[in-house]
Amino acid sequence: MPWWKTVAATLLAASSQAWASTACRCFPGEKCWPSETTWARFNRTVEGHLVKTVPLGTPCHAPNYDAVTCATLKSGWLLPEEHYDDSSSVMAPFFANGTCDPFHPVSKPCLMGNYVSYSVDVGRPEHIAATIRFATEHNIRVVVRNTGHDYNGRSTGAGALAIWTHHLKDLSIHDYHDRHYQGKAITMGAGVQGFEAYELADAQGYQVVGGECPTVGLAGGYSQGGGHSALASRYGLAADQVLQWKVVDGTGRIMTATRDNEHSDLFWALSGGGAGTYGVVFSMTSKAYSATPVSGLNLTYTAAGLSSDAFYETIEVFHTVLPALVDAGAMSIWYYTNAFFSISPITAPNIPVSQLVELLRPFTDHLDQLKIKYSMSANQFDSYYAQYKGMQGLIEVGTAQYGGWLVPRSVVQDNNKALVKAYRNITESGATFIGVGLNVSKKVAGNVHNAVLPAWRDALIDTTLTTPWNWTDSALMLERQRQMTEDFIPQLRALSPESGAYMNEGDFRQPDFQSVFYGPNYAALRKIKAKYDPHNIFYGKTNVGSDEWRERDDGRLCQVSQWQADWPEFGTVGALEL
Ligand SMILES: Cc1cc2nc3c(=O)[nH]c(=O)nc-3n(C[C@H](O)[C@H](O)[C@H](O)COP(=O)(O)OP(=O)(O)OC[C@H]3O[C@@H](n4cnc5c(N)ncnc54)[C@H](O)[C@@H]3O)c2cc1C
Ligand SMILES: *[C@@H]1O[C@H](CO)[C@@H](O)[C@H](O)[C@H]1NC(C)=O
Ligand SMILES: *[C@@H]1O[C@H](CO)[C@@H](O)[C@H](O)[C@H]1NC(C)=O
Ligand SMILES: *[C@@H]1O[C@H](CO)[C@@H](O)[C@H](O)[C@H]1NC(C)=O
Ligand SMILES: *[C@@H]1O[C@H](CO)[C@@H](O)[C@H](O)[C@H]1NC(C)=O
Ligand SMILES: *[C@@H]1O[C@H](CO)[C@@H](O)[C@H](O)[C@H]1NC(C)=O
Ligand SMILES: *[C@@H]1O[C@H](CO)[C@@H](O)[C@H](O)[C@H]1NC(C)=O
Repeated sequence: MPWWKTVAATLLAASSQAWASTACRCFPGEKCWPSETTWARFNRTVEGHLVKTVPLGTPCHAPNYDAVTCATLKSGWLLPEEHYDDSSSVMAPFFANGTCDPFHPVSKPCLMGNYVSYSVDVGRPEHIAATIRFATEHNIRVVVRNTGHDYNGRSTGAGALAIWTHHLKDLSIHDYHDRHYQGKAITMGAGVQGFEAYELADAQGYQVVGGECPTVGLAGGYSQGGGHSALASRYGLAADQVLQWKVVDGTGRIMTATRDNEHSDLFWALSGGGAGTYGVVFSMTSKAYSATPVSGLNLTYTAAGLSSDAFYETIEVFHTVLPALVDAGAMSIWYYTNAFFSISPITAPNIPVSQLVELLRPFTDHLDQLKIKYSMSANQFDSYYAQYKGMQGLIEVGTAQYGGWLVPRSVVQDNNKALVKAYRNITESGATFIGVGLNVSKKVAGNVHNAVLPAWRDALIDTTLTTPWNWTDSALMLERQRQMTEDFIPQLRALSPESGAYMNEGDFRQPDFQSVFYGPNYAALRKIKAKYDPHNIFYGKTNVGSDEWRERDDGRLCQVSQWQADWPEFGTVGALEL
């Protein structure tokens, strides 16, 4: 660093105490933090809906240790069900940061760490508006929280006040008419989870786009971030289904955003431009479709007795059946390491099971030729929900760290050998591959107007890579993050530098996340955020505008000053270290 920059940095660091209070969000323990009386008054404003955080893992640590409760918590910790009814729990272990969980010693104190300090268990939009006003007045960090599924820590934050939407459960199916769509629609409160929407739709003879995990919230991070679905090759992404958002913006205004009304810019941004950024959604209306029969197929084999070359060649052959499969309207999930391969499952709406088996035939013929013993189950169900319940396996949380890349169809078709070579290197290095094979091109999505990352339209394989989580070896976990960012994803990026990654299942350390997660939409999204969230109330790691903020080691959220942005070599000096 040149001497003059050192001097400048020292001066700025010394003088920065003065602007610390405005450059950083107020943190618990500071003078600016509201008193108990002030919190109590705020609680009355939100009609008694304020919840003070008691971390879920509290019974696992002294002095509150309770062996029986802690054992129950430990046995369920890897299931979403254990976390999503709690006002503060975080499923992603890196962001929970081991400060209060059943995997650390009883003697280790339970600390607030990254957990929010308070939550407002929202009952109606006015509670959201009041919370935004209170947080703005007191300069408190806001977190929007629904189920807590987020892999990238965007639904938690140290010293934050959470707007918790989980109990907004209104749900109905009705007719909808506008200039672009006439048909059935489903309106759901922001807290509605996949299984609730599937169940209601099924009972009334419909099917709706939702995730493979039954407990992900549909109107929250999922649809606002894009949202892939077992029905996606038939209808498009979740964001493509949205007709209307009801939302409270960053100034506390309650509004409706549709494609054609005065908030069409907000409609465009909320539909695929990332959650927790422009406003708090309290209800979403999306397209609903008449139920169809749905086929399902799963298939599994191990690499035992096969050479590595032969094993990875089967994956190459699997890639060749994908285009026809997804163009017929099917969506495939598959995963593998260097030791096994599993399709889990293919979902084929309105495709007879005999046709589904035929679509896969070139692949199964290849397996037969190699005399690979695989187990396969192919079935036809009366409805999507029946297929879902029959064939979708359990999805655990807290077992891995994530990263991803959207692999275009052209790479799979024209550069298959290089692609499989990269996947082989990555899986032989200890990562697990998870693929989502789909066709969500404009031909499938139809006439939509939204901020979905354009790379989705050309993608054939939404690739997710995972590395195994270890609760106690944090140095190893950081090394695995480095591998993801520096070794694994770059190999896929090299094959399709113009593509991108799915923000909800991407690497939170992704370099150039602005272009990788948002593509050419970033600048327009930043402008829309400035319009609806002029005070930057909403922050989430890798969200639009998040590069203007930094989280300090203690979790405190601080604005990056202009001089830091201009002189990034100062790194953590200044507002970060006040
Ligand atoms: C087990 C599992 C399975 C998954 N399966 C799929 C899948 O099949 N398809 C897929 O596309 N993704 C899947 N995901 C990823 C999922 O889409 C994201 O984790 C998503 O962020 C979850 O949204 P949420 O609202 O339920 O979670 P939360 O963690 O509560 O919130 C996620 C983000 O949304 C914001 N947010 C939440 N509610 C609102 C609101 N009302 N208004 C504004 N912002 C809000 C939060 O601030 C945060 O940034 C899966 C994740 C897990 C853990
Ligand atoms: C808010 O008020 C309700 C109802 O009186 C009460 O049950 C709750 O504990 C209060 N919350 C806090 C954080 O004090
Ligand atoms: C495949 O599906 C069948 C039911 O259709 C199920 O019994 C079986 O457990 C599934 N296999 C795997 C590996 O998921
Ligand atoms: C995707 O599916 C649609 C509908 O079947 C089809 O028209 C289109 O050619 C497919 N492929 C691509 C790349 O869009
Ligand atoms: C993966 O590729 C890198 C870079 O070429 C190489 O250093 C590494 O050894 C490879 N790993 C495996 C398991 O093949
Ligand atoms: C986690 O890491 C610790 C320390 O390196 C090791 O002893 C332990 O076996 C690991 N646990 C698992 C499940 O791999
Ligand atoms: C976890 O805690 C450590 C130690 O307090 C801190 O340095 C680190 O930044 C925290 N990590 C996260 C992701 O919050």
